[in-house]
Amino acid sequence: MTNAPSSPISLPEVDLPALTVRLMTPADGPAIRKLDERAFGPGRYTRTAYRLREGVAPDYALSCVANIGSMLIGANVMTPISIGETSALLLGPLTVEPAFRSRGIGEALAQHSLTLARQAGHQLVVLVGDEPYYAKLGFKSSPQGRLQMPGPVDPARVLYCELQAGAFEGITGSVTRVS
Ligand SMILES: CC(C)(COP(=O)(O)OP(=O)(O)OC[C@H]1O[C@@H](n2cnc3c(N)ncnc32)[C@H](O)[C@@H]1OP(=O)(O)O)[C@@H](O)C(=O)NCCC(=O)NCCS
Repeated sequence: MTNAPSSPISLPEVDLPALTVRLMTPADGPAIRKLDERAFGPGRYTRTAYRLREGVAPDYALSCVANIGSMLIGANVMTPISIGETSALLLGPLTVEPAFRSRGIGEALAQHSLTLARQAGHQLVVLVGDEPYYAKLGFKSSPQGRLQMPGPVDPARVLYCELQAGAFEGITGSVTRVS
């Protein structure tokens, strides 16, 4: 599997022959912002997860975009964070253009980022999202009180995924932005 941005990765499990997934680059920023604006609206800047990403560049070795030809139709951002003294990753926003949803593109984008993160030796990924969607990617609800987010959040939506067995054992503390 090639991960260079110039070498798109085909995803045979998604039934869209023209679809490619590749690593995100800074040049994708404007198209991703438009996609997120349509999906989340202006309120996205007040979301607690946004506070963890504010002013922090995505990890471009782990963040992915989906294209049909030159059109960007999906994106998943991976951002470095800290949990107390422990390094971790924040997954999201994960967004797919409405016309292309329910074809497995969201799952493929997130799965690809998680595979790259595991290969790079990362241990733990956290997100704020719906457990019924993310369970298929290996995410579980964090026990209440284990992770303190930097703003209001429904505790049931704070999820974690261990990339290495046992990585969440003993982990507790404030989830903070990496400066
Ligand atoms: C969530 C999202 C990325 C999924 O993209 P996608 O390409 O449609 O995802 P997949 O094809 O892998 O999975 C689709 C399935 O997940 C379900 N699903 C979507 N969002 C869900 C949610 N929040 N909770 C539970 N199930 C959900 C869909 O109903 C669909 O089910 P179906 O296959 O039975 O029709 C997309 O719906 C989206 O961009 N939503 C708006 C942004 C958002 O809420 N992002 C997640 C928060 S970070």
